[in-house]
Amino acid sequence: MDGLNKSMYEIGSDSAFAILARSQELEKEGKKVINLGIGQPDFPTPPNVVEAAIKALKDGHHGYTSSNGIRELRCAVADDFFKRNNVKIDPDDVLITPGGKSIIFYTLLMFGQPNTEIITPDPGFIAYKSMIDYTGAKAISLPHRMENDFSFDAEELLSLVNKNTKLIILNSPANPTGGVVPEKELNKLAEGLLKFPNVFVLSDEIYSRIIFDEHKHHTLLKYPEIRDRIIVLDGWSKTYSMTGWRLGFGIFPKSIFNYAEKLAINSHSCVNSASQYAGIEALNGSQINVEKMILKFQARRDFLVSKLNEIENVQCKKPGGAFYVFPRIKKNSLSSSEISKYLLEKKFIATVPGSSFGVNGEGFLRISYASNMKNLEKFTLCLEEFMNE
Ligand SMILES: Cc1ncc(COP(=O)(O)O)c(C=O)c1O
Repeated sequence: MDGLNKSMYEIGSDSAFAILARSQELEKEGKKVINLGIGQPDFPTPPNVVEAAIKALKDGHHGYTSSNGIRELRCAVADDFFKRNNVKIDPDDVLITPGGKSIIFYTLLMFGQPNTEIITPDPGFIAYKSMIDYTGAKAISLPHRMENDFSFDAEELLSLVNKNTKLIILNSPANPTGGVVPEKELNKLAEGLLKFPNVFVLSDEIYSRIIFDEHKHHTLLKYPEIRDRIIVLDGWSKTYSMTGWRLGFGIFPKSIFNYAEKLAINSHSCVNSASQYAGIEALNGSQINVEKMILKFQARRDFLVSKLNEIENVQCKKPGGAFYVFPRIKKNSLSSSEISKYLLEKKFIATVPGSSFGVNGEGFLRISYASNMKNLEKFTLCLEEFMNE
């Protein structure tokens, strides 16, 4: 197709959605597919949250809201952020969006353009690179290596910054690896960034509540010296099993909030109001369902890590957060994409090849453990069978 804006030919897609579509096709053919490909919790939204949305609709909240989100919700976000991070934020800096993904989109529209560079995690969430490519900026890979527990090295990151660098994207706990960046690395980064006063950071903290063992989440907003350049992305999708409600938020520095809001006004106008009322209840109501979900995820992670490491030529780190494991799998000279395809077409198990997340993801598979134990057991047995074939 000719004639489109040439950026359209650069934009990528998300292979997890393509794999979901293929799984659905197989299911239509009567196959029972175990889906470990998609990143959404397998628990329902907590009932008190659903009730709050129903009440909002019955109370007549059917219209547009202010484009940045209803004030009560932005205040609830600020209170919750303080409770979790001990960092005060101004509710006026919060932009409520239809899912966290919009924050990636708006931020990259604000910073990306030809002849600029944006540093992005590799392996990393697919939308970052797709959108960087769309804007014409150059994506610079920041390796997150297995040997480093899938964290980055602050010195290496700072060595990638130059006069063309406009933005750094970070994500902890991370998709696709579950890696958590330790505080000491963030301390080094915050100090090093003082030398580059024009570089902004998009800190994707959407998995900040899903964190295990001794690991602790540290928001980048806790460093006052760089705070005026930090954009935080978070939302309800993962923590409250609300992927389909489309509810997320960004916290923007005052200097650029107005631009983000204009992008919102010109694209989604506002998030549907029932979801916003549900979001207030999610933050202010009981957290018992979230706590139960995290314990379940932790037990599944422990099971998978231990089983996967028993299989020859499979190596799996114990991730500190999110709900993914990212094992290295060596089978002859097969690529991660060939292994993932084989597992889907022959064993009916959907996974995502590591190469979808960047060149440093080759040789790995992303397994989402947002699925029950029975399915995870079946997966480990099938993988073992495949490795022995
Ligand atoms: C790292 C990361 N950021 C952002 C998102 C987007 O979340 P949402 O569904 O709220 O748009 C996801 C979803 O998979 C994610 O994994």
